[in-house]
Amino acid sequence: MDFFIDTANLDQIKEAEALGILDGVTTNPSLMAKEGITGRNAVLKRYVDICEMVNGPVSAEVIATDYAGMIKEGTELAELHDNIVVKVPMIPDGIKAIRTFTEQGIPTNCTLVFSAGQALLAAKAGATFVSPFIGRIDDSNWDGIELIEQIVEVYANYGFETQILAASIRNPLHIVRCAEAGADVATCPLSSIMGLFKHPLTDIGLEKFLADYKKVEG
Ligand code: E4P
Repeated sequence: MDFFIDTANLDQIKEAEALGILDGVTTNPSLMAKEGITGRNAVLKRYVDICEMVNGPVSAEVIATDYAGMIKEGTELAELHDNIVVKVPMIPDGIKAIRTFTEQGIPTNCTLVFSAGQALLAAKAGATFVSPFIGRIDDSNWDGIELIEQIVEVYANYGFETQILAASIRNPLHIVRCAEAGADVATCPLSSIMGLFKHPLTDIGLEKFLADYKKVEG
């Protein structure tokens, strides 16, 4: 399973990249706003900065919600850098735009997906990635992981090549459960990635090895 980081924060991307396990980045308008980025030029510059830090797909979201607007904006985003994946919302005009981008060879990420039916539409349009938001589903008292399992089954039935990008990850257990379910990618906050390291027996074991080595050294 590929690991993407879900942030527009350059320090966090640098920290994840330094671990040597980072495969890509996803952003969204809320994550840009969180960084205090204002103005279109600053947003575009942040995408380029991120692309230069990570050798993998970087999702950049369109703001337009009509077909023509999404094509114009997505084309501009794709021209920024080879790593850019155009992130498009799961609405009828979005699906039309994904079909056009697919025909033009521009990679896409269909975002705001909350059902297997929506994931089926994204795959039929040729999306490179589909982003089911598992944390937001859990927040609304449904089971986000069940949706991943369902999409894995539906895609396998027909050999769809769209990659399942589990999004809205809230904790390390979400990552592990997505891996069990067969998600192709998990996009995670840095805290969830770092949470994977944690086990008290690792800390206790390391402490004991170091203490015992002091005896060996004399
Ligand atoms: C990523 O592509 C999504 O936009 C993101 O994971 C949403 O996460 P949230 O539900 O924590 O906002």
